[in-house]
Amino acid sequence: MPNIVVVGTQWGDEGKGKIIDILAPYFDFVVRYQGGNNAGHTVMIGTKEFTFHLIPSGILHPGKEVVIGNGVVVDPEALIQEIQDLRNKGVDIGPHNLHVSKSAHVIFPYHKISEKIREEESIGRIGSTRRGIGPCYVDKNARVGIRMGDLLYPEVLKEKLRRNLKEINLILTKIHSLPPLEFKPLFEKYKEYGRILAPYLKDTFLILNRAIERGKRILFEGAQGTMLDVDFGTYPYVTSSNATAGGASIGTGISPIHIDEVIGVMKAYTTRVGEGPFPTEIKGELGDKLRNAGPIGEYGRSTGRPRRCGWLDLVVLRRSILVNGIKRMVLTRLDILGYVKKVKVCISYRWKGKEIEVFPDDYACWNEVEPVYEEFEGWSEDISKIRDYHSLPAPAKRYVERIEEMLNIKIAMISVGPRREEVIIREKLW
Ligand code: GDP
Ligand code: IMO
Ligand code: MG
Repeated sequence: MPNIVVVGTQWGDEGKGKIIDILAPYFDFVVRYQGGNNAGHTVMIGTKEFTFHLIPSGILHPGKEVVIGNGVVVDPEALIQEIQDLRNKGVDIGPHNLHVSKSAHVIFPYHKISEKIREEESIGRIGSTRRGIGPCYVDKNARVGIRMGDLLYPEVLKEKLRRNLKEINLILTKIHSLPPLEFKPLFEKYKEYGRILAPYLKDTFLILNRAIERGKRILFEGAQGTMLDVDFGTYPYVTSSNATAGGASIGTGISPIHIDEVIGVMKAYTTRVGEGPFPTEIKGELGDKLRNAGPIGEYGRSTGRPRRCGWLDLVVLRRSILVNGIKRMVLTRLDILGYVKKVKVCISYRWKGKEIEVFPDDYACWNEVEPVYEEFEGWSEDISKIRDYHSLPAPAKRYVERIEEMLNIKIAMISVGPRREEVIIREKLW
């Protein structure tokens, strides 16, 4: 399987970072195709923890090249900071192994300001990460965005920034009675970012397509998850990009004919950060227990917010499997279920007397559906040291096999802890 996409199948934070880190040695390029620094992908090596926001997790492997594709939105300040932080941790990173698309859109302070206003003053709070991601994609689609490549040409940047500030300043001053943004310091700052990042800015679609011609292998690192996808998620409680597998082609300039497989990552239960429907959410003590169990609790890697926790939802997963074309999955955080006595899985929803098996498009029902659960005996034991599937406690194996049966997929890998080596491989994914 030369080129594969790794996607989140729930509401993000499924453990994609760890899985990318395991797969990266078998690929030549690791590529981000959407989202921005709203993502937080964690890799643990020994006691060292790395959290990636913009840079693909594959950078930890010497000799690999990583790409921030055209579909990503880039906050240059955050990118420069992330490069610096990784260097401080001893990671080799420079223009020889990090390539940033000139067509990726740039996040400006006015994107963060308009997001803050939306979240605080008007209706429909999304609980966004407030990184300016949504408003930056708005500008991209409204055709007034500024792209990374524009930072290389001060005259182009000047003209576009002036035009954008004229509009945003009218909104800030006339509608919100806020002070306007000054052109000169902003222009100087972003011109400087362009100077610093110039060696990284490239026609990444060309690099990747040339690499494919030479038989190189590409690993696509999805950010967020299917249920946060702007088309297939719980709209409007979603992020502003296509996190699903289709986004990989658009967000990199690699034709779908070159994508060979889509691997789904699913957590053994469900979490969600921010607002929005969550049918299997567990409120109260048991939810808190899931959040705080194990070596690393369920708190957002980007914002530190507690993640809402709930049971595994097969109705959601059936949607993900269809939309992404998943045949093989990685199951993560199975160790965490060792902390609860009984485990439940939502096998369908009931709504207005009807049985629903695949998460539907109808917004009207999302907060009203009643989950139908199947209950499992728990295993109440630490499985994090187990590396061989047959050594898992019988109830854990029953859980895994029942999920495979009900979803008609293969669980090829099971993750039982945050560290690289804490994994049970049932079938090679490379
Ligand atoms: P991502 O956004 O999909 O990459 O996931 P995050 O990194 O935001 O969240 C997953 C969290 O779970 C991180 O803290 C990982 O270190 C951790 N993790 C990943 N796999 C496992 C696992 O199998 N067991 C446990 N206990 N933690 C895991
Ligand atoms: P990774 O890649 C979990 C959520 C936010 C909010 C909604 C919109 O680590 O899985 P945004 O700032 O994107 O406009 O926020 O999406 N969200 C995530 N939740 N994991 C993520 O990324 C997320 N990125 C965004 O909490 O509900
Ligand atoms: Mg995350």
